[in-house]
Parts: sequence; C-alpha cells; structure tokens
Amino acid sequence: MGYLQGKKNAMMTIKDRYAVLGQPIKHSKSPRIHQLFAAQTGQLLSYHAREVPVEQFTTVVTAFFTEGGKGLNCTVPLKELAWNYADENTGRAKLSKAVNTLTLREDGVIIGDNTDGCGLVADLTVNHGIKLAGSRILILGAGGASRGIIAPLIEQAPYSLVIANRTIEKAVNLAAEFCDKGSVTGCGFAALAHQQYDLILNATSASLSDQLPPLPEGLIAENGICYDLAYGNQPTPFVRWGLGHGAAKSLDGLGMLVEQAAEAFFIWRGVRPDTQAVIELLNTERDP
Ligand code: ATR
Repeated sequence: MGYLQGKKNAMMTIKDRYAVLGQPIKHSKSPRIHQLFAAQTGQLLSYHAREVPVEQFTTVVTAFFTEGGKGLNCTVPLKELAWNYADENTGRAKLSKAVNTLTLREDGVIIGDNTDGCGLVADLTVNHGIKLAGSRILILGAGGASRGIIAPLIEQAPYSLVIANRTIEKAVNLAAEFCDKGSVTGCGFAALAHQQYDLILNATSASLSDQLPPLPEGLIAENGICYDLAYGNQPTPFVRWGLGHGAAKSLDGLGMLVEQAAEAFFIWRGVRPDTQAVIELLNTERDP
C-alpha cells in the first residue's frame, strides 16, 4: 500500500465523536439510537453515554469540544446548564430555557438547541396520527419538561392548553409566559374536576419515582389520548392510569425519545434517519 493510500485509509477511520451527558445515564437508550441511525444512514461516528454531575458539567463539555468532539446531547439535570453554556441558542431553545443538543459549528461557536418539543409533536402527529389542531390539551407538571413542549404544541393550533401542577403558582406563572402565543392557562390538580381533555400529557417527574399526580375521574374525553413523556420497559403508572380510565390510546415517550434524537442527528449530520424502523426495534427489546 502506498503512503498516500495508507494515510487516506487512516483518515477514513477517524470517527466524529458525539455523546450524551446526564446523571443518571446508565439506562440511556441514546447511544443505541444514534448507533442505529449511523448504521442505517452510513454515517461514520461514535456516540457514548457519560455520567456527569452538575459540578463537572462545564469542565467536561469544554474538554470534549477542545479535544475535537462534534456534538453533545444533555439530559437531566444538565439541560439548563447547557442552555447557559452555549455561545448561541436557537429560538426554540430560548423559549425552552433548556438545551438538549450542543453543536460545535465550523467557526468554533457552540450552538444550543432543543429538539424535545418537535420530537414530541412528530411522535404524536406523524407516528400516531393524532390531530392537535382544535384539540383540548392538558399538560401535567410545570417544570423543565413542560416548558420545552409548550411552544411547539401551541404552534399546532390547539383549541386550548391547560397546565396543571402540584405547586399551583408554577403552573400559573408558566402559562403567563406563553399566553401571548395562544390560549394557555395554569391551575392546580383539584381545579381539573369537571373538565375533559382530548390529549393529556404527563410531564411531571412523578413516573420516575413510580408515582402518579392526583387526577380526578372523568378527565379523559371520548377518544382521548394519554401520553407520558417518560418511558420504561414496563408501562409507567400514568400509562396504566390512562388504560384504566378509558383512554383510546395510552402511550409512553419512547417515540418522542427517538424523534428528538433524529432531529439532533439531522442537525449534526444533515441526514434524516428512518425513525419508524428504530422505534419498532426498540419496542421489540422491551421486557416481555
Ligand atoms: P423536569 O425538568 O423533569 O420537568 P422539574 O423541573 O424538577 O423536572 O419538574 C418536575 C415536575 O414534576 C414539577 O412540575 C413537579 O411538581 P412541583 O412543581 O409541584 O414540584 C412535578 N412532580 C414531581 N413529582 C410529583 C408527584 N409525585 N406528583 C405530582 N407532581 C410531581
């Protein structure tokens, strides 16, 4: 083999590096998803998961990009830190005040983006054929996960969007931030009695501790759908609640996870992977 050919082969095996940071991160499906995307689209890259506590975030991210890393996903509890870290944030990241995708641009500028909201909307509308225009949407929770999905949902022109939270003030304040974009109101769980919704989204962190927000009876409209932003190998408490209370469908956030990853992959690589194939594969890998 000539010198130039050898050099070319060596260069071709250098993979662009990506990673997901969070704490905990052990059970993250993101490395698997991005490796499936890469194989499917013929992209040469590596993608690893790394446990990073809040105190080490800045040091780890700076080292990653200084050493040639191309992009990072950031998950709980690092999304707000990533938003602060980015040199520039996209419009949707600014609205979310949280970043799940950091990208090193050619000129060295680090761009923060948030693909969670568009991932959710893609899963609801494309994968599940759910019509959001004109629908009554209820979001449970008023933390970071809720903030990231409000603007993309309002863009779908629902009839109304209600945010209900254990700490009422947080729901009211969050709704007030978005009220110039559409009909958005905030309240506590008790105020939900006697209302019905076409789509109920659980964006509380209650599922993570196997709990359920206190929800009144009769909340789900005829043909109404429940959707938990969390996911697990087994149905979450909220998914089970939906199934037990007459929801036409009660879904978890696996599809959203794959869709937000696909949007990050597109930002980084300029190629859109086939998400359906990956969702189907991950569904077969759930515990029986
Ligand atoms: P995230 O970034 O995942 O949204 P967060 O900002 O800490 O995390 O927000 C967690 C959300 O889940 C909050 O809305 C929280 O309610 P409070 O604002 O009243 O704390 C909600 N939450 C957590 N555990 C809950 C539970 N067991 N029942 C109801 N709501 C719960």
